[in-house]
Amino acid sequence: MTKSIGILTAGGDSPGLNAAIRAIGKSAIRRYGWNVVGFRDGFRGLMQNRSIRLDGDFLSGILTTGGTVLGTSRDKPHQMDVGGTIMDMTDVMVENFTNHHLDALVCLGGGGTHKNALRLAERGIPIVTLPKTIDNDLVETDASLGFDTALGIATEALDRLHSTAHSHHRIIVVEIMGHNVGWLTLGAGLSGGADVILIPEIPYSVEDISSAVALRRSGGSTFSIVAVAEGAVSQDLVSSINAIENDSEPETGRRVKLAMANRKTTVEIARELEESTGLESRVTILGHVQRGGAPSPMDRVLATKLGVAAIESIEAGEFGVMIASQGEGVRSVPIGKVAGRTHHVPTDHPWVESARALGVCMGDDS
Ligand code: F6P
Repeated sequence: MTKSIGILTAGGDSPGLNAAIRAIGKSAIRRYGWNVVGFRDGFRGLMQNRSIRLDGDFLSGILTTGGTVLGTSRDKPHQMDVGGTIMDMTDVMVENFTNHHLDALVCLGGGGTHKNALRLAERGIPIVTLPKTIDNDLVETDASLGFDTALGIATEALDRLHSTAHSHHRIIVVEIMGHNVGWLTLGAGLSGGADVILIPEIPYSVEDISSAVALRRSGGSTFSIVAVAEGAVSQDLVSSINAIENDSEPETGRRVKLAMANRKTTVEIARELEESTGLESRVTILGHVQRGGAPSPMDRVLATKLGVAAIESIEAGEFGVMIASQGEGVRSVPIGKVAGRTHHVPTDHPWVESARALGVCMGDDS
């Protein structure tokens, strides 16, 4: 029987989305002769019934391109802004899905998308998801689309900043994305040879960073590269949040929001380091550059592997699952095991231990 499937991309874009759309579409068409439609701009497009047929022509030539050809948004089905009013539009989405006579919906996204996909799956939509996020913060999968590319971009930035920091005897503080996890900063910090790496999982003290910079200086290195995750928090801030929050559970959204809203900015960290070390400091915020442009070869391979596996899952009638990359293969993991959970950097992770072994300051006095 000829099946029809829908695809949408939601949340922040990341390199590799188009490679995945291509793999899903081409394998559905070539292997099974299915019809494939794409919904524009994430869950909003499903709500507004804005769709496009994804045929061979549409899917051709997108393997190497950045962003998402379908567009994306951070809209949530149950809290959607409709003409200025926040409304639960889940019913409308279920209705649109049904009216398209679709057999499955493939949602490509990160943490927020998995929560939203779970809601729609609970309403009876047969859903398969693919993990996508430059933050690498999804559980149950070894890799998420976009992380490898973003890692490469952040590493190249650190490489380039090294030579100018060295020439001018400066501290350069580089802010790297990652929301409230430190994978991207830790990975780029290691591969780009940062002298200090600050991640949300290991609260920092400016005094300890200053001591590390001073130690380098006394050893003849008159410059330092500080890689700081956008979610890095000081030890002082963590203590004050602990004092006002009775709940000791660090995962609560409230704690994360408090930390993100009150964290020292990267500019403030640089200013404090300049004052305490006497070394001129500069700030570079990599921002959305990390999410733009062509996907790396690894992300293209991952996207292709996951996209093809999504079609096999649909063919097998297996729904409500995320296609995870595990080892060299793939595994279907219930979306309920992924939604609402965050893959943090364990503080004893081999990457952290390796950094410390090389004398990299992790922002504390260990
Ligand atoms: O989740 C990906 C990410 O790039 C985070 O690293 C960052 O905090 C956030 O998205 C930025 O979101 P926006 O694209 O909405 O500015």
